[in-house]
Amino acid sequence: MSAFCITENVALAPRTTLELGGNAEHFVEATDDAHVVEAIRFAEAKRLPITVLGGGSNVLVSDRGVRGVVVAMRSRGVSKKDDGHNVCFELTAGESWDDFVANAVGEGLSGVETLSGIPGLVGATPIQNVGAYGSEIADTLERVTALDRLTKSTVTFSRAECEFRYRDSMFKRTPDRYVVLRVTFRLSRTKPGAPRYAELQRALAARSATPSVADIRETVLTLRRSKSMVIDANDPNRRSAGSFFLNPIVSKQEAARIASTHDGLPQFEQEDGRVKLAAAWLIEKSGITKGMRRGHVGVSTNHALALVHHGGGRAEELLLFAREIRAAVQSRFGVTLVPEPVLLGFDSSAL
Ligand code: EPU
Repeated sequence: MSAFCITENVALAPRTTLELGGNAEHFVEATDDAHVVEAIRFAEAKRLPITVLGGGSNVLVSDRGVRGVVVAMRSRGVSKKDDGHNVCFELTAGESWDDFVANAVGEGLSGVETLSGIPGLVGATPIQNVGAYGSEIADTLERVTALDRLTKSTVTFSRAECEFRYRDSMFKRTPDRYVVLRVTFRLSRTKPGAPRYAELQRALAARSATPSVADIRETVLTLRRSKSMVIDANDPNRRSAGSFFLNPIVSKQEAARIASTHDGLPQFEQEDGRVKLAAAWLIEKSGITKGMRRGHVGVSTNHALALVHHGGGRAEELLLFAREIRAAVQSRFGVTLVPEPVLLGFDSSAL
């Protein structure tokens, strides 16, 4: 167990995949639950806000930095229970998500294979119900153990209690209440189900009629790489936070209104009858092209939904460009894009 240590003015840019933004006023690396409690008590004593940081792959830090205490979740540990059919893994928040997926696939277990190649740490995955290529965390998550910041006690939430939706959960809606400490996933020894995502189905068909979990992982990694959605030191689009905007979900009437004037509008009907639109498509049809640049930032050359930092830039540049894109989509389609990454150290009205 490492000692609890708070440091001042710690650079956050190198701790995020966008590599932008200023310093944390106070910074703690929490390697166990007690460190998280100590960090909260420290912040409370000084009446400072607390920000929890995982792998930094879905955040944009402001150039002014983050006031208060930034707690980086760095606890490591995996425990495993096998009943012959299903295997439950309990992982601490600081475990690497993709190492977990790679190990599970290596054991031939199914449930998370389409979530291959996603950067970041396990503790962040339930917050926005991470999803890709037809599945999401909510499909395999059993429970979340979190620290309740009010009572300083641990609480366990079932999947239903997490209230998962598209890129959303109870944790995201009550951001100042819980710190995720551990997450349990139930994986299966039986064969993977047929992937539902059309692009993945097409790519897999070229590979195998009965794809294994390893085939699915490899195919997803290839697709993600082609969109610069796997972090690769040689990729000029590597400094990003993945998708910069959520895919907007609109009413059926709204989708029909847009489709009546825009041929080929991609539409994905949701269980509740509403329709998910492809933000990347809306962006491109609004005149924002892949590879477009504004100073040190721009659109990825491989995916219209990823904003990238080319080095030497400021968070403000990225924010200005994001506003420009949002305004273009708003004026063309009447749809307001909502950012997907968490904005740290900004006013709530920043974007
Ligand atoms: N499209 C374009 N231009 C592009 C890329 C895509 O018009 O440059 C259109 C196409 O019509 C395409 C559709 O958008 O069929 C969907 O594109 P894609 O399959 O790449 O998915 P996405 O909607 O852009 C979402 C997630 C990704 C996830 C992929 C795959 C969100 C906000 N993003 O992206 O998650 O990997 O699906 O399932 O839901 C992330 O959240 O950071 C992330 C990378």
